[in-house]
Amino acid sequence: MVEAVLELKNLSVGYDEPLISNINLEVFPGEVITILGPSGIGKTTLVRTIAGLIRPLSGSFDLNVERRGGLGYIPQRLGLVRHATVAHNVSLGARTRVGFSLNMWKERSQRTMDALRMLGIADKSNEPVRRLSGGQQRRVATARTLAQRPQLMLADEFLGELDHSNVEIVFEAVQNLVDDGTAVIMIEHHDDNAQLFATRIWEIQDGKIADISIKEWKNRKTGGEEE
Ligand SMILES: Nc1ncnc2c1ncn2[C@@H]1O[C@H](COP(=O)(O)OP(=O)(O)OP(=O)(O)O)[C@@H](O)[C@H]1O
Ligand SMILES: [Mg+2]
Repeated sequence: MVEAVLELKNLSVGYDEPLISNINLEVFPGEVITILGPSGIGKTTLVRTIAGLIRPLSGSFDLNVERRGGLGYIPQRLGLVRHATVAHNVSLGARTRVGFSLNMWKERSQRTMDALRMLGIADKSNEPVRRLSGGQQRRVATARTLAQRPQLMLADEFLGELDHSNVEIVFEAVQNLVDDGTAVIMIEHHDDNAQLFATRIWEIQDGKIADISIKEWKNRKTGGEEE
C-alpha cells in the first residue's frame, strides 16, 4: 500500500479565529493539488501551516517525508537571496539532500545546472537575482526547489507573472518531478493554469475545503456538456 505523504487530521488553521476548519484530507505521491479560493480566504495560511511556519489552531497533520530536504516550499514572496547570483540561489536548494561524500560537489553542481537549464535561466546564472524581472525571479525560486527534489512541493502562486510559454516550461520541469513521485500542492488564481496540471482541486469556501477530482471540476466548468 502506498503511504500518504501528507495527512491532515481534523486540522484547523488561522490566527486568532480559524480561517479553515476541520480539514481531513490525504495527499499521495504523484498527486498535484491546486488550491483555489478568493483572496484573503486562508490559502497561504494553510500552506504555511503545512510548511511548519504557523502552528495549527487545532487538529494535526502527519508529514511523511525525509527530514532533510523532503519538503520544498516556494513562498508567495519568493525568499531569494537578492544580492547573490542566480546559480548560488539554486545551489542552495541542491545542497539539502546530498550527504557528505567526495561526489557531493559534483552532484550539487549537476543538480543546479540541470534545474537552471530546465527553467531556461542558465544564461542568467551569474547575474545577481535583483537584476532579474519578476517572472525570471519566479523561475529561479522554482529551480531552487527542483534542485532539491523534494517529496512534497508546496508552491504559493509560483506561476504568477509568467507568460504562457514560461508557464509551459515550468510545468514540464515540475512534471518531471511528479513522474518520479513528488506530490505538489499549489495555490493558483487562474482556473486555466489550475486545470492544466492538477489531479485534484481543493476549493476553499466559507471556511471549508471541497476536495474535487479534476474530472468533476472540468465537467462542472463545461456544465457537463462534454459527457
Ligand atoms: N500573520 C498574520 N496574523 C494575523 N492575520 C493574518 C496574518 N497573515 C494573514 N492574516 C490574515 O489571514 C487572512 C488570510 O490570509 P492568507 O494570506 O492566508 O490569504 P490568501 O487566501 O493566501 O489570500 P491571497 O489570495 O490574497 O494571497 C487574511 O484576512 C489576512 O489578513
Ligand atoms: Mg496568499
